[in-house]
Amino acid sequence: MSDALNYLVQARPEAMGHYFRFLKDCGKQLDPKTRDLISIITKVHAQTERGFRQYLKRALNDGCTPAEVLDALLMAFPALGLAKIVWAVDIILALDLPEFQPAALGAAGQWHDVMAADALDAGAVTRVDCDGRGLFVHHGADGWKVFDSRCPHQTTNIPHLALQGTTLTCPKHEWVFDVRTGQCTAKGDRGLTSWDCKVVDGRLLARW
Ligand code: FES
Repeated sequence: MSDALNYLVQARPEAMGHYFRFLKDCGKQLDPKTRDLISIITKVHAQTERGFRQYLKRALNDGCTPAEVLDALLMAFPALGLAKIVWAVDIILALDLPEFQPAALGAAGQWHDVMAADALDAGAVTRVDCDGRGLFVHHGADGWKVFDSRCPHQTTNIPHLALQGTTLTCPKHEWVFDVRTGQCTAKGDRGLTSWDCKVVDGRLLARW
């Protein structure tokens, strides 16, 4: 909440109580994702960065996809105008959320040279930094997997120390992932972001 709203809650608790109940009642018939997307648009319209970040995270946690968030912003073009949409997208880019990367949204992305393919034995997992991005790489019997190192919960950059065998535990809230598949196996409900990968001339490449 902004400092001004905090002040009003203290200075006018009764009026503000009615106000917040009014806002809550207004959304009663809407499902959580729709409520979240409308809240995002209101924060972008008012250009309150903290509120926008807060509702963006809430929307993703409630199951909104990045494509739905972007579509909601674009559909609100008549109210927001291009400048405010660009303002919001700049904040999204600064957050560097892996699920908003063009490749994660189905765009072509760019290939990056990750490592020598013979540097990782079959069955092994490692963490590497490549072109500013942390990656967990698994060399499985049926091929390679490359995952973004940022947690899908709140984008914590998960360190190598969090890896035990093929189990990765985010240090912040302890979501657990299987780095062979990227799936979340405990506590959370979303898997790691997976990047396309291939081996060319002995080098492992990944696309994001
Ligand atoms: S940031 Fe919450 S579990 Fe990773």
